[in-house]
Amino acid sequence: MPGSAQPTSFPKSDIKILLLENVHQSAHEIFRHEGFQIEAIGGALSEDELVAKLESGVHLLGIRSKTRVTERALAAGKRLLSIGAFCIGTNQIDLEAAKVRGVPVFNAPFSNTRSVAELVIGEIVMLSRQLGDRSREVHEGKWRKIATNSFEVRGKTLGIIGYGHIGSQVGVLAEAMGMRVISYDIRPTLPMGNNKSVNSLEALLRTSDFVTLHVPETPQTKNMMGESELGKMKEGACLLNLSRGTVVDVEALAQAIKNKKLGGAALDVYPEEPEKNSDDFKSILRGLPNLVLTPHIGGSTSEAQEAIGREVANVLARFTNTGATTGAVNFPAVDLPMAEGAHRVLNVHRNVPGVLRDILKLVSDRNANVIAQQLATDPTIGYLIMDLDKEVAGDVRNAIAVLDTSIRTRMLF
Ligand code: NAI
Repeated sequence: MPGSAQPTSFPKSDIKILLLENVHQSAHEIFRHEGFQIEAIGGALSEDELVAKLESGVHLLGIRSKTRVTERALAAGKRLLSIGAFCIGTNQIDLEAAKVRGVPVFNAPFSNTRSVAELVIGEIVMLSRQLGDRSREVHEGKWRKIATNSFEVRGKTLGIIGYGHIGSQVGVLAEAMGMRVISYDIRPTLPMGNNKSVNSLEALLRTSDFVTLHVPETPQTKNMMGESELGKMKEGACLLNLSRGTVVDVEALAQAIKNKKLGGAALDVYPEEPEKNSDDFKSILRGLPNLVLTPHIGGSTSEAQEAIGREVANVLARFTNTGATTGAVNFPAVDLPMAEGAHRVLNVHRNVPGVLRDILKLVSDRNANVIAQQLATDPTIGYLIMDLDKEVAGDVRNAIAVLDTSIRTRMLF
């Protein structure tokens, strides 16, 4: 358990964590082990409810995707140290407003990597055997026992676009089924197993029997699979998109399926997705043959939920205990190893010239020595972790806290 043996400036049992939206029990266990006070609420809170809770003195807030953390809520959270988003996306949080108040936000971007990779493998086989269509027909009472356009995946070429966490896992699993794997990425990557990287998107599209997308949503990836790219794919090849909805031009895809340029496709993400499970899904893709459509469930497994619980709880505990911000989505990354016997001061400040000079003067005025320090900045804020050799750290903390450049100052021990 990270930092669990380390004392904080106030007893851990005084640290209050509010967990909303059924955050997984794996997180509760970690916070219980830390000795934090846990309040758990099953659903999301409205802005007014969240404001009231944060005003009551919450130190750590854990949410999933449905609780909106607005600037008003953040302003109410005078004691708030950090927010954990127990999910992948962080759009529900006003990240900038959190940052300028000195509140780092953590999420779990990679806890569901394996879940997505496994679904991709399952869907490659589904597309190869037209399983979606056959299954639907049998449900409807139709018996179409046919071998036309059904293939083994062994020996076929899988082209992976975006060879990051998910893409590289897909490549390893696909090879185990006897597929030949090639990948294309904009950055140099280290191919796993016998995977081979190719140096152009076109080379990948022209030689792959299956093309699977694992890129982030960026201006460069918007509609990166449009009419022209689909046109470069092999006749009868299949496309899979379990990355982001904006990556594929769905009108062009629908056309490519209708005119049989492509043999099929599997999509888990869409340019527009229903907000709630009760909302209708509207798309020109509905009803087309050998088109496997899933409701953005690529990462939705029990294992992923448990891993997300552990990952985010660990980084929140680590931040509380050591000040480390590695992996925070809105904050400069600072992660200073703990020095034996040191007294640690954490300071978030406005990024203007002279702040470090002012802080070091306060330290030397008190005859204290800096054992180690680490500073990182972004255009708006700076974040400093400083280890002092003397018990004066509390005094230094108080002096730093009243500097008009300081946003938030905390002492650990
Ligand atoms: P990652 O950041 O580990 O990998 C993305 C890779 O894409 C990187 O290697 C990057 O260099 C590459 N890339 C970026 N722009 C590119 C371009 N224009 N052309 C080629 N390569 C490019 O991300 P990770 O974790 O593998 O996730 C991939 C995607 O899957 C993300 O969009 C993520 O949002 C999505 N995702 C979807 C889930 C679902 O439920 N369907 C669940 C989890 C992630």
